Amino acid sequence: MRELQAPKGVSEYFPPRSQYFEFVRETLINSAKISGYQLMELPVFEDTELFKRGVGESTDVVSKEMYTFEDRGGRSITLRPEGTAGVMRSVIEHNLDKLTLPIKVWYSGAYFRAERPQAGRYRQFYQVGIEAIGLNDPEIDFEVIAVADRAFKKLGLKAYRLDITSLGDAKSRASHRKDLVAYIATLDLDEATLQRAALNPLRLFDDKRPEIQSAMLKAPLLLDYLSEESKASFARVQELLNSAEIAFTINPRMVRGLDYYTGTTFEFVSEKLGAQSGIGGGGRYDGLMAELGGSDLSGIGFGLGVDRILMACEAEGVFDSSLNKSEIDLFLIALTSEEKAYVSNLLNDLRNNGISCDMGYGDRALKGAMKSADKSGARFSAVIGSDEIKSGIVALKDMKSGESKEVRIGALSNEFTTN
Ligand code: HAM
Repeated sequence: MRELQAPKGVSEYFPPRSQYFEFVRETLINSAKISGYQLMELPVFEDTELFKRGVGESTDVVSKEMYTFEDRGGRSITLRPEGTAGVMRSVIEHNLDKLTLPIKVWYSGAYFRAERPQAGRYRQFYQVGIEAIGLNDPEIDFEVIAVADRAFKKLGLKAYRLDITSLGDAKSRASHRKDLVAYIATLDLDEATLQRAALNPLRLFDDKRPEIQSAMLKAPLLLDYLSEESKASFARVQELLNSAEIAFTINPRMVRGLDYYTGTTFEFVSEKLGAQSGIGGGGRYDGLMAELGGSDLSGIGFGLGVDRILMACEAEGVFDSSLNKSEIDLFLIALTSEEKAYVSNLLNDLRNNGISCDMGYGDRALKGAMKSADKSGARFSAVIGSDEIKSGIVALKDMKSGESKEVRIGALSNEFTTN
């Protein structure tokens, strides 16, 4: 029989590393929560049309990387390649845009892109994202960038940089587009590239082929075409970043992989990862909501790559080894099989009281059971035999110091803080 394996290119986490994954994800989420963002839990699959219209047909994500299939009702369904389009769809569908603005939400989960797998690039990967919708204000641009930066600093990351640019407002982009299209017309390009450029000429800045990269060196840059309003807004974002001591580099050639961006756009790049070094990115997307049939609200957000951030944390050695332990307070050992039922009941009572605890299952000799207690990472252990049951007193052993103290079984709960 063929050995079963996970599909090619998916990331998965199991103990003990899953604890670090969870810690990273929770730290990212917490940074969003303390800034007033609330949970949005959305479907993993959506109508294919949403991503075509939202993310853009000129992007690799839509043209090459979507997991699209027909469901049993003959509808075209796509596994979400990113989170922003789904958030917009939900906001429009549930009239959230009619409530107090801005809407500030966070989300976390699995995303799917049929990319060529390599270290840090997966076909199923994890993001934590936020979106702030309904406010076009440099202060909120700053807030969004600061939420990501604060999370990275909280994790202890140091070797990363922040690239920012502005893709301007509609007016800035229209005048730039005219010159860029004229410039591209002077280049000798193949048919497929011309087609991509016709959909979105900015895409050519993102082309990895050296001949296109060098041809684009002299191309007009959007940053030189910013309207007065866009210029002022971008300058204000920079001022706010400077006063918060968040270091950044202006990268006028940055092109994000999704078509909806306008105004402030940014990317966080780890210096400790190889080719797949983008640990998070985002930006403003004025016009996306209206494009999807909603009110003409602006918005800004980010998506952070949990898999890559975990890799960056490991590469920088930021984790304290104490993290690599279970969260169990107490490990109980039944001396003989006669006491198993008693211990099992006791364990159940303790858990009902919110104490995290476990026991040595199976018929293992005391030495083996002590080993399991050690491996469990529990802070305390206690052996229960007929004497303990009779006297109602156990020796509670501190697994770190090795010291024991006598505790009444009935009062065991008081020794621990409840979860
Ligand atoms: P994105 O830049 O496409 O933006 O993805 C955000 C992050 O997800 C990347 O910086 C990277 O860390 C991670 N990521 C993307 N693809 C993969 C992959 N194949 N394997 C592992 N990690 C990956 C977005 O998705 C936008 N929705 C962000 C956003 C929100 N913009 C505004 N609001």
